[in-house]
Amino acid sequence: MEVIIRSDAGAVSKGAAQYFKQQLEAKPASVLGLATGSTPVGLYRELIALYQARLLDFSRAASFNLDEYLGLPAAHPGSYHSFMKENLFSHINLPLENQHLPDGTSSDVPAHCISYEESIKSAGGIDLQLLGLGSDGHIGFNEPSSSLSSRTRIKTLTPRTISDNAQYFGGEENVPHHVITMGVGTIMEARQCVVLALGAKKAAAVAAMVEGPITASCPASILQMHPRCTLIIDEAAASALLRGDYYRWVYDNKPLWQKI
Ligand code: GLP
Repeated sequence: MEVIIRSDAGAVSKGAAQYFKQQLEAKPASVLGLATGSTPVGLYRELIALYQARLLDFSRAASFNLDEYLGLPAAHPGSYHSFMKENLFSHINLPLENQHLPDGTSSDVPAHCISYEESIKSAGGIDLQLLGLGSDGHIGFNEPSSSLSSRTRIKTLTPRTISDNAQYFGGEENVPHHVITMGVGTIMEARQCVVLALGAKKAAAVAAMVEGPITASCPASILQMHPRCTLIIDEAAASALLRGDYYRWVYDNKPLWQKI
């Protein structure tokens, strides 16, 4: 895993945007795996700015989001459908019919999960998967103890994740307890992963993901097995890493073409 430590959130977002730019330049019809939460908001602003400056074109791209709350209609302000519309989709030219998110109102959840997996496959698989990191080490909504080979399915949120996400629902009592999420196995099939983490609240999860054992207790740790995974974090999120200086040294000494 490549670990890139940047000074602050702005530099993390700018760096991550370069991965999307390179991907879309190399393959305009890329399949992008997208994430929600507060962490990617700065990256999405960068992508919007690049699009407005005519440096990015999403017209041939497709996207698949990681997850959605069960029971929330797309128009609910707390849904990830709403989040994506507000923070990215309504500002760029990614065709509506190419935007995919799990349907939180599906009447047959297992069948919907199978068809979500099939849609990813028939789109050609995910080229570039963006990931945030839960404070308990989850990716998507794959909470600790998730099978490391899981597929898209229903999950129950932990009390910690419910509390972390209460800000979006005006209190813990309003946070849905169930979600549909791509599985860890689904995520691992993406050709490339870019993981972002910001702030001291993520420092323990970052250290467990990068330097801990590969374990379902920290689902993100399976990314140590991914052939092409880059973690971009700010100094605060890097603060619990034992080998922080080593990662900085490696990055500083890379050939220019490998840097962001
Ligand atoms: C939710 C999302 C994750 C995200 C995590 C962290 O649980 N399902 O995809 O990575 O929140 O959110 P934040 O970026 O707000 O810390």
